[in-house]
Amino acid sequence: MVTEVIDDLDDGVNRLVEAMTAAGPGRTVALGGAGMSTESGIPDYRGPTGRANPATPMTVQDFLGSDQARQRYWARSFIGWRRIASARPNRGHFAVAQLERGGWLDHVITQNVDGLHQQAGAERVEELHGGLNRVICMSCRTVSPRDALDRRLQAANLHISPGSVADDVIKPDGDVDIDDGVIDSFQVVDCAACGSGPLKPDVIFFGENVPPERVSFCYSLVERSKLLVVLGSSLTVASGFRFVRRAADRGIPIVIANQGPTRGDPYATTKIELPLGQLLEAAGAELADAGDAERLGSGRGGLECSLGTVGRA
Ligand SMILES: NC(=O)c1ccc[n+]([C@@H]2O[C@H](COP(=O)([O-])OP(=O)(O)OC[C@H]3O[C@@H](n4cnc5c(N)ncnc54)[C@H](O)[C@@H]3O)[C@@H](O)[C@H]2O)c1
Ligand SMILES: [Zn+2]
Repeated sequence: MVTEVIDDLDDGVNRLVEAMTAAGPGRTVALGGAGMSTESGIPDYRGPTGRANPATPMTVQDFLGSDQARQRYWARSFIGWRRIASARPNRGHFAVAQLERGGWLDHVITQNVDGLHQQAGAERVEELHGGLNRVICMSCRTVSPRDALDRRLQAANLHISPGSVADDVIKPDGDVDIDDGVIDSFQVVDCAACGSGPLKPDVIFFGENVPPERVSFCYSLVERSKLLVVLGSSLTVASGFRFVRRAADRGIPIVIANQGPTRGDPYATTKIELPLGQLLEAAGAELADAGDAERLGSGRGGLECSLGTVGRA
């Protein structure tokens, strides 16, 4: 149970470093959220950046329910996608990748769909809610790159110039506000593999469940860890929060690094409220100075995942 909130940089870094050192090399799992990416210019939902421009994401039921809903989704996403695609990892993402390479971090379970951990060089990233850089056919289930779809959408919508129809404010899922006239004239394209199936981004929409094998894999990551570190998530969404509950049930210490309250606070052993880029960069530097985890001890060795990475839906 957390008793104090740490907002001093030196204290925060020391507490995070101590917790990861006590857990040992390769025994920390990170559970990340939208707060990891706000410093890359992608807003969250429930922090200051999200509250400034509230978003109501489309539910899967709406998306699957009508051609008009999909036309609306893809028109807005056609414009918003290039903003997400042009976002770059921030120093927090780079620090996480370095902690992984140094042998400190086992895996990152991310609730984000922006791919920025991977862009920063992290390899053991479990995308709990999928990734916006892929699309899936609702009929034949073929998964294909979003870039390829974008080229097809551009060819089908030569009358729309992406730079001129939207305001500058992007929503967390790559959605932007555009005029209804643009939406009405937008040409949606279907799956290139089967020729007719409707396409959906390969992300878990609100109202949709994470595939059970992905959830089980994440539970197994948490259960074999000696420390769970939450990075920038309000844990409002049950899909991420359940891993905090599981860690607490197993007596695994939980460090929550998040500016602002989270639903996991009652379960946290340590709560740190600092900007993540600053905190992670400094903690990463200290752990690197201490010698990488392989030299310190056992390394990940026997922890190497026997389950493999869960395949994408
Ligand atoms: N980048 C993305 O891919 C993205 C962005 C927004 C939302 N989402 C999706 O929406 C859901 C949102 O849930 P969530 O819990 O991840 O987000 P959330 O918006 O509920 O919570 C984010 C938390 O991070 C904190 N925060 C923001 N910037 C921070 C910083 N620099 N340092 C420290 N803390 C910071 C905020 O105060 C807030 O408490 C997720 O399931 C995710 O799939 C994805
Ligand atoms: Zn198809």
